[in-house]
Amino acid sequence: MIKMKDSNLFKIEKVKFKNILSIDDLEIKENKITCIVGPSGSGKSTLVKLLNKMISPDSGKIYYRGQDLDEINSINLRRKVLMANQSPAIYKGTVKDNLLIGLKFSEKPLASDETLEQILSDIKIKKSLNDQVENLSGGEKQRISLGRLLLMDGEVLILDEPSSALDQDTEAFVMDYILSYVRTKNKSLLVVTHSKKLVQDYADALIEIKEGRAIYE
Ligand SMILES: Nc1ncnc2c1ncn2[C@@H]1O[C@H](COP(=O)(O)OP(=O)(O)OP(=O)(O)O)[C@@H](O)[C@H]1O
Ligand SMILES: [Mg+2]
Repeated sequence: MIKMKDSNLFKIEKVKFKNILSIDDLEIKENKITCIVGPSGSGKSTLVKLLNKMISPDSGKIYYRGQDLDEINSINLRRKVLMANQSPAIYKGTVKDNLLIGLKFSEKPLASDETLEQILSDIKIKKSLNDQVENLSGGEKQRISLGRLLLMDGEVLILDEPSSALDQDTEAFVMDYILSYVRTKNKSLLVVTHSKKLVQDYADALIEIKEGRAIYE
């Protein structure tokens, strides 16, 4: 059967992954801020990894803008659906290397130092581009991985606990910036979070994962 295109960003149908996740039917809408919540170990990270093909379901179907993920090349998908993992990937080298690496991997044009300096200030990092990242704090590394995604100008941002290592003030500053970026540039944001404040203040939609099953509000 030919699938009709629809306005969903993602649609999940009868997906199972090991004995960890079992989702019958879930739709994620375009241009929204969707928060994913639930207890530790419930399957939140597993769900978002399925959405950018870091892992594949054992059965069932996932559609991105109406197109079966099986038929989308992983590299092409990850140019549009950008994900910051729960443990940020940091590479040996400078702050600049680490900001640019996403653009390099996806073969997009690199950004100027001026743009990179601006990103550092947007994510509240007071380091210079030539500083080595290995000396950065956990929260700074987390923000560098966010800066890397902001530079890549994708269609969808998936952030897995992006502010877990940040104090409340820094979290508020960085999340305010990301949320206004998403709204003004008409992107879609999926964010896995334990922050009740983030959910209360910003979520357009809420997905709760409990023991591998989804409850959608
Ligand atoms: N590839 C895998 N093989 C086997 N078990 C896995 C795999 N990936 C995750 N798990 C298990 O599945 C469960 C859900 O993991 P997941 O990382 O999705 O949880 P989570 O909701 O993101 O939790 P947290 O809030 O702690 O990050 C956990 O018990 C985890 O150990
Ligand atoms: Mg997780």
